[in-house]
Amino acid sequence: MAVDLLLGLQWGDEGKGKIVDVLTSNYNIIARFQGGPNAGHTLEFDGIKHVLHTIPSGIFHENAINIVGNGVVIDPVIFKKELDNLKKFDLDFKKKLIISRKAHLILPTHRLLDAASETAKGKAKIGSTLKGIGPTYMDKTGRNGIRVGDLELDNWQEKYRALADKHESMIDFYNVQMDYDLAELERDFFEAVEVLKELTFIDSEEYLYQAQKNGNTILAEGAQGSLLDIDFGTYPYVTSSNTTAAGACTGLGVAPTQIGEVFGIFKAYTTRVGSGPFPTELFDNYGETMGKVGNEFGATTGRPRRCGWLDLVALKYAVRINGATQLMMMKGDVLSGFDKLKVCTAYQYKGETIEHLPYNIEAENVTPVYTEMKGWKEDLTKMTDASQFPKELNDYIAFLEEELEVPIKIVSVGPDRTQTIHR
Ligand code: IMP
Repeated sequence: MAVDLLLGLQWGDEGKGKIVDVLTSNYNIIARFQGGPNAGHTLEFDGIKHVLHTIPSGIFHENAINIVGNGVVIDPVIFKKELDNLKKFDLDFKKKLIISRKAHLILPTHRLLDAASETAKGKAKIGSTLKGIGPTYMDKTGRNGIRVGDLELDNWQEKYRALADKHESMIDFYNVQMDYDLAELERDFFEAVEVLKELTFIDSEEYLYQAQKNGNTILAEGAQGSLLDIDFGTYPYVTSSNTTAAGACTGLGVAPTQIGEVFGIFKAYTTRVGSGPFPTELFDNYGETMGKVGNEFGATTGRPRRCGWLDLVALKYAVRINGATQLMMMKGDVLSGFDKLKVCTAYQYKGETIEHLPYNIEAENVTPVYTEMKGWKEDLTKMTDASQFPKELNDYIAFLEEELEVPIKIVSVGPDRTQTIHR
């Protein structure tokens, strides 16, 4: 039995939540393997719109078990809010939602450290979601972190105090204006920890091994996108985890030989939130229309997303790093009515034309080389079958498939579960 992966191929916000939700009926287990509440996975069905941050997107499916894997970082306060928001759906969390003992906890002081670090960076800030992601992974790799399994030990609060005290002196070191009431933040934190403790904690690598042996199907759900990967993204403007396929192995304890399909998701154009290079970014009417029609605002922070043409150089890189076996193109409907579409197929870099992602893709280093195509006028949102697609959309898809050398199996034509066309 294989573990299939679902990953974002751009800078996040590709629509992973929707596709996991669409695919869940094929799987017994949905597992998150990295990131934390910096993610915002939006699901829409039966007229309801719901945003998940840490909880896997299979939570609404009756028989799916949802696992928060060891590679994830959990903020108990946000987790509790997510659970509260889900109460109206009457889900059996104790049974449907299980958490790895090896997942690390985001403490209130991690969030404060994130804010202090960003403020101290000034103009060079990463544009972090300020959820404490970077500082928590720093404590993980620095071997100082507190894990979910620690909550089962009697002395975990001593460990907590020592770490929070250290963080406070680190916050002082940044020497920036910070107004906070730690006692109040800690009250919320400890209250939320008690709620977290009501859930089921497991050794998820063992659970997943046995589940596979017993014939269960597993989908690993990525968060953020490949270009935000700590190793392969546009460093330092990245998140602090491995968002690419390899992250699923370390974030769940699944062997590379167990990986089956790798579903790569991308938007028909490109977006990015936060700072960092974005060669095909648009500052004109086309970009504005993408933002407006595509409702491009961060699901976690509400920040407007930067928009631009599809960047095939970056997309090819992500397809290769992940070994994507199938592609899913999202938000094709947003491009309806564009008189022309541009796709970046190469960069001008130091006087040469290159087709790979160089070390540094800051605007002063690369100029995109575009291929221009005709747009389509038709509204795609009511279409139910690929045979209804306009010629120009078929040409766009065919061009991308030829360049990427991987089939595009799903075209999404709207946010709802039902607006998903299989090819
Ligand atoms: P952090 O992970 O909150 O530290 O943010 C680091 C960078 O990743 C910032 O540019 C964020 O905007 C971006 N980022 C983090 N999570 C997401 C996400 O789920 N979608 C899109 N961008 C994200």
